[in-house]
Amino acid sequence: MGSLSKQEQVECREKAEYANVNWDELGFALTKTDYMYVMNFTEEEQKFFNGTLTRFGNIEMCPSSGILNYGQGLFEGLKAYRKEDEGILLFRPQENALRMKMGADRMCMPSPTVDQFIDAVKKTVLANKRWVPPYGRGSLYVRPLLMATGRNLGVKPSSDYTFLVYASPVGNYHKGDLNLMVEDYVHRAIPGGTGGIKAVTNYSPVYKPLTEAKAKGFSDLLFLDALTGSNIEEGSACNIFILKGNVISTPTTHGTILPGITRKSIMEIASDFGYQVEERAIQIKEVFDAEEVFCTGTAMVVKSVASITYQGKRIGYKLGAETLAQKLHATLTGIQTGLIEDKLGWTTLI
Ligand code: COI
Repeated sequence: MGSLSKQEQVECREKAEYANVNWDELGFALTKTDYMYVMNFTEEEQKFFNGTLTRFGNIEMCPSSGILNYGQGLFEGLKAYRKEDEGILLFRPQENALRMKMGADRMCMPSPTVDQFIDAVKKTVLANKRWVPPYGRGSLYVRPLLMATGRNLGVKPSSDYTFLVYASPVGNYHKGDLNLMVEDYVHRAIPGGTGGIKAVTNYSPVYKPLTEAKAKGFSDLLFLDALTGSNIEEGSACNIFILKGNVISTPTTHGTILPGITRKSIMEIASDFGYQVEERAIQIKEVFDAEEVFCTGTAMVVKSVASITYQGKRIGYKLGAETLAQKLHATLTGIQTGLIEDKLGWTTLI
């Protein structure tokens, strides 16, 4: 590469990185894409302004920024799918924009407007168009971040913020069966806390029990409510549903559970299928006589739970093509990829 200019060397490397992607083996790890979108809020302007696309790369931040010191930050997750005719569809981006607004209010942060959020997401996806996997072979996961980037030493809301959107092609979140272990020592959320928003600080506190559970062969944890320890809440990165007869139940969100957009979509699809859909408190003991259990999330999509283990007792569930989870998955991804008519206006063609 000795005779190539710096720019040509970068282009060569990027071409090689792209050519090496195995679209059928994508898991849920970062594949660097070409561009990210950055927009700032400053104390002087008191609004988000001048959003721009820049090359994907590291960002600079003051060591005393609010995100680094006190975790004043939120994220979102949404997907862009390739249609059979090569068009690109975004799934319910306005729901993510509204959820970020709700979270920003709780975290005492300003947030981009819904239009600014959607515009940033569209621009990020279009700038990284070549990274949207071919039809049926994954999706482009879009990760908007809202971070306190002002200088802060004291404990107080930041003066300045950065909204940044990046993207990565992804495949399955969990490869293989989903074997859950009920965690009855560490709680993910407490009443009055931030479990119901996508605060960045909601995730790493579960790494310790999650790592221990993985070492024992489980794929994820199922958390119980912190008040009684007897009701199921959610996984470390997904919502949960149980099926019994014609009734599908999922825990009421009530501020401790993330109001998932996939959760909400699945509730609508399932009631369209003729199921009775309930949001209510679900006791852990009910899980033991459920006919099927499945998890939902943007990253997870819809995935059957193979087993749940609680206090040493393990129960296995039905898996495979005949499960309701599989049918819900097929319908949801059918809508997301434009294969099934989107009667509810959930998708946006970009
Ligand atoms: C998502 O499903 O988008 C999530 O936010 C889960 C994530 C933590 C991987």
